Amino acid sequence: MASSAMHVSILSLLLLGTTVSIPRASSRAVPSQSDGGATGGKAVYTKVCDASRFMAAGLDMSKYRYCNASLPYGDRVRDLIGWMTVEEKVSNLGDWADGAPRVGLPQYKWWSEALHGLSSTGPTTKFDDPKKPRLHSGRAAVFNGTVFANVINSAASFNESLWQSIGQAISTEARAMYNLGKGGLTYWSPNINVVRDPRWGRALETPGEDPFVVGRYAVNFVRGMQDVPGHEVASDPMSRPLKTSACCKHYAAYDVDDWYGHTRFKFDARVEERDMVETFQRPFEMCVRHGDVSSVMCSYNRVNGIPACADARLLSGTIRRDWGLHGYIVSDCDAVRVMTDNATWLGYTAVESTAAVLKAGLDLDCGESWIVQNGKPVMDFLTTYGLEAVQKGKTRESDVDNALTNLYMTLMRLGYFDGMPRYESLNEKDICSDDHRSLALDGARQGMVLLKNHGGLLPLDPKKFGAVAVRGPHAEAPEKIMDGDYTGPPCRYVTPRDGISKDVKISHDANLTIYFGGINMHIEREGNDREDLLLPKNQTEQILHIAAASPNPIVLVILSGGGIDISFAQGNPKIGAILWAGYPGGEGGNAIADVIFGRYSPGGRLPLTWFKNKYIHQIPMTSMELRPRPDHGYPGRTYKFYDGPEVLYRFGHGLSYTKFRYETSAGNGTAVTLAAGGHCKRLSYKAGAVDATPSCPAIDVASHSCKETVDFNVSVVNGGDVDGSHTVLVYTVPPPEVAGAPIKQVVAFQRVFVKAGGAATVGFSLKVCEAFGIVEKTAYTVVPSGVSTVLLENGDTSSPSSVSFPVKINFST
Ligand SMILES: *[C@@H]1O[C@H](CO)[C@@H](O)[C@H](O)[C@H]1NC(C)=O
Ligand SMILES: *[C@@H]1O[C@H](CO)[C@@H](O)[C@H](O)[C@H]1NC(C)=O
Ligand SMILES: *[C@@H]1O[C@H](CO)[C@@H](O)[C@H](O)[C@H]1NC(C)=O
Ligand SMILES: *[C@@H]1O[C@H](CO)[C@@H](O)[C@H](O)[C@H]1NC(C)=O
Ligand SMILES: *[C@@H]1O[C@H](CO)[C@@H](O)[C@H](O)[C@H]1NC(C)=O
Ligand SMILES: *[C@@H]1O[C@H](CO)[C@@H](O)[C@H](O)[C@H]1NC(C)=O
Ligand SMILES: *[C@@H]1O[C@H](CO)[C@@H](O)[C@H](O)[C@H]1NC(C)=O
Ligand SMILES: *[C@@H]1O[C@H](CO)[C@@H](O)[C@H](O)[C@H]1NC(C)=O
Repeated sequence: MASSAMHVSILSLLLLGTTVSIPRASSRAVPSQSDGGATGGKAVYTKVCDASRFMAAGLDMSKYRYCNASLPYGDRVRDLIGWMTVEEKVSNLGDWADGAPRVGLPQYKWWSEALHGLSSTGPTTKFDDPKKPRLHSGRAAVFNGTVFANVINSAASFNESLWQSIGQAISTEARAMYNLGKGGLTYWSPNINVVRDPRWGRALETPGEDPFVVGRYAVNFVRGMQDVPGHEVASDPMSRPLKTSACCKHYAAYDVDDWYGHTRFKFDARVEERDMVETFQRPFEMCVRHGDVSSVMCSYNRVNGIPACADARLLSGTIRRDWGLHGYIVSDCDAVRVMTDNATWLGYTAVESTAAVLKAGLDLDCGESWIVQNGKPVMDFLTTYGLEAVQKGKTRESDVDNALTNLYMTLMRLGYFDGMPRYESLNEKDICSDDHRSLALDGARQGMVLLKNHGGLLPLDPKKFGAVAVRGPHAEAPEKIMDGDYTGPPCRYVTPRDGISKDVKISHDANLTIYFGGINMHIEREGNDREDLLLPKNQTEQILHIAAASPNPIVLVILSGGGIDISFAQGNPKIGAILWAGYPGGEGGNAIADVIFGRYSPGGRLPLTWFKNKYIHQIPMTSMELRPRPDHGYPGRTYKFYDGPEVLYRFGHGLSYTKFRYETSAGNGTAVTLAAGGHCKRLSYKAGAVDATPSCPAIDVASHSCKETVDFNVSVVNGGDVDGSHTVLVYTVPPPEVAGAPIKQVVAFQRVFVKAGGAATVGFSLKVCEAFGIVEKTAYTVVPSGVSTVLLENGDTSSPSSVSFPVKINFST
C-alpha cells in the first residue's frame, strides 16, 4: 500500500484515528453497499438483487437477467456488463467502484484488510468510534474486533489447523461487519512474500523465510477465509461459493521496502528464473493451486526491468494460464500511478500505462481515492485514464470487459448479488466472541519460542517467587506494539505487565527480574527496512546492567517481528532464559504469563533464521540471489543456502519445558524406483564429486506422473514430566554430489500434542517429486538420482534426538 506521502496519511489513520475521506461524486439512484438499504432489523444490506431496491430506484428487476439466480454466473455477468456504457465500465476498474446505478448496480468498495484480524486500513472496514457511537442509526455499534497474534507468531506455531481456524474466525467477523454495513467481502490478505533478508521491515506480517512453510500458511489461511463448508471443491470452480475473498500478495519478488533509499516503488529486482520458481513464486503457486484463492495482488517493484503489474508473463501467463486463478488480479495501492509518475517506466504516459496493465492481465487498480491531497481526491489510474485509453484505441473494450468479468464473477460467488443465507444472521455478537478470544490467546501461546533456558530457570513457580521485578520498555507495551501492523482496535488489550501481575506481586525489590525488551514499528514496518539487527544500544546496556546487579539470572522476553542479534544475552550466564514473544496481539500479555508460569509449555519454533549482525555487512539487501556468490563474497541466504558462523538461532530453533525424542519406522532407510521414461535431465555436479556422470542424472518432474511416495511413521516420545506440543519438521537433503542444491529443505511438518511420558505417532507420506525435487540451474524441477536424506530435526540442538535416514532414488528405463 501507499506511496510515501500517502503512507503518512495511513499511519495517521492508524495512530491518530483521523483521516479525510470524501464521498465520490457519482449520482446514486440505488443505495450503496455501506449506506445500506433497509435499516429496520439488524441486517443492513444483504444483496444487490433485491426487487424492492430496484423498485425504490424506479427500476424493474425482472428486466435484468443478471439478477436471475437460475442462470449461470457467466451468463449473468455477461448480461450485467452488456448493460453498461464504456464510461460506466471504466468507472468500475478502481477499488472504490462506482457501480452502475442506472441499471441497479450499487457502488462497491473492494479494499479491506484482514492480515491477523479485521483491520481498519483501507476505506471499507469501519469500526465505530467510542466517542461517537452509533454513527449509523438503527445499527449496533462495533468498537473492536479480535486481534490475533501477528503472522510471524502464528507461523512459529507450525500448526496448520490454527492457521485455518484463524482464517475462519476472521471471515466470520468480516461477514458480521458486512451484515451491519460496516465492512466488505474482499480482503487483501495474506502477505506471503518470503523473508529473503533479515532486514526486511515487513517480516512481522509474513510466515517467515521458507517458501514451503509460507505456502502452507497461505493455503490454510485462504481456505479458512474463503471456504464455505461443503464447498471446498466444486466441479465448476468459477461458481464455488466464497465466505469471503482472500488475496495472496505481493506478487512477485517483493521484499525491499526502503533500504538506504532503494524504495519498493522504483526497485528493480534482478532475479534468476531458478529463484523465481524455487523461492519467490512458490508460495503464490501453492496459494492459487491448493488454496484456490480468489485474488492475487501484484507488487510495486519491477522484476527484471518490468513493473510486476505490467508484466503479461507474470500475470496472464503464470497466474491465470499456468496456475489457473479463479478470481481477479489487483494492483498494490497506486502501483500503476507509481510506475508512471515515479518509476517513469519506458516514459509511458498515464494512458499508455493504463493500457499496458490491462493488457498484462490486471483487473483492478487500487488507488487511494479516499485520500485528499491539496484539496483534491487522489484518484486511481484506471478509472481516470481508462476511457481515454479505449477511445484512443490503446485498450480494447474487450480487455475492460475481461477485467470486469473477473471482478463480478468473484462478487457473484460471494453472494453479493443473491445474498448468502447461511451467513446472514451473523451480527455484532459474532465479533469478539469468547471462542475467537480464546483462539487468539491459544494462538499467541502456540507461537511463543523459548530461545534459551539455562538450568531450567523457566517456568517460574509463582509460589517460589512471590514477587518479581518487571523492567524494560515493552513491559507496558502499548497496543500498537503488541498488535503490530494492519490491525483494528482489539476486543481486549493485555500488556505483559498486566499478564504477569495476575500471578505474582510486582515489586522492584524482588530478586528475580523479567525484562521486556525488543523493537517496534519505528524500526521494522512497511516502508522501512532495518539498518541493523541489534537492539537499541541503551536497551542492551540496561539489560546488561540489570543482569549484572541481579542476585539471580534474569528472564529476557523479546518482542519483535524479525530476528535480533542478542548474542550478548545468549552468552551471558546472568541472563538465564530468553523467550521470543513476537507481537502477540490483544491477548499477548496473558499468553506470555501462561508460558512464563508454566501453564503452557512452549512449542513454537523460529520460522526464520536469527542472524548475527555481522551477516548483513556481507551482502547488500538489493542482491536478490539466494545462493552464495563467492565472486562477490556474498554468503547464501536463509537456512537453505547458509549455515555459516553468523547464525545466532537457526530456523526451527525452539526449546520446550519437556524433552522430545523421535523413533521412526524407516529403519536404515529405503529405496525408491521411478520410471525414467525418456525424461532424463542433466544436472551439475560438484567438481570431482562423481567419477562418471550417470546415464540418467535426474528426471523432469513436469513430464512425470509422480505417483511414488516415501512413507514412514515418526513416534514423538515425550520423555519429560510436563505435557507439551511439538512440531516435527521434516527436511530432505539432496545427494551431496549435486552442485547448487539447497543444504536442506522443509518438505512436511506436523504439530502434535504429547502427554508427559507418552508418545504420539505421526505418519508422513512424502511425494517423491515434491519432497525430493530440486530446482536446477535452468529452472526445471527435477528429482536427482543418488542418495537423498530425510532429516527430522528437533528444535532443541542440545538434545541428541534428531534422526535421519537415506532414501536411494533409482530410475528404471
Ligand atoms: C511520486 O511522484 C509524485 C509526483 O512527482 C510525488 O509527489 C510523490 O511523492 C512520488 N511518490 C513517491 C513514492 O516517490
Ligand atoms: C430466469 O431464467 C430462467 C432460465 O432461462 C427462465 O426460465 C426464467 O423465466 C427467468 N426468470 C425471470 C424472472 O425472468
Ligand atoms: C493446533 O491449533 C488448534 C487450534 O486451531 C488447537 O486446537 C490444537 O491444539 C493445536 N495443536 C497442537 C498440537 O498444539
Ligand atoms: C470493545 O468493545 C466493547 C463493546 O463492544 C467494550 O465493552 C470494550 O471495552 C472494548 N474494548 C476496548 C479495549 O476498548
Ligand atoms: C530470592 O531468590 C531465591 C531463589 O534463588 C528465593 O529462594 C528467595 O526466596 C528469594 N527472595 C525473595 C525476597 O524473593
Ligand atoms: C533509549 O533511548 C530512547 C531514545 O532516547 C528512549 O526513548 C528510550 O526510553 C531509551 N530506552 C531505555 C531502555 O533506556
Ligand atoms: C541397519 O544396519 C545395521 C548395520 O549397518 C545392521 O546391523 C542392522 O541390522 C540394520 N537394520 C535394519 C533394520 O535393517
Ligand atoms: C504407520 O502406522 C500405521 C498405524 O499405526 C500403520 O498402519 C502403518 O503401516 C505405519 N506405516 C509405516 C510406513 O510404518
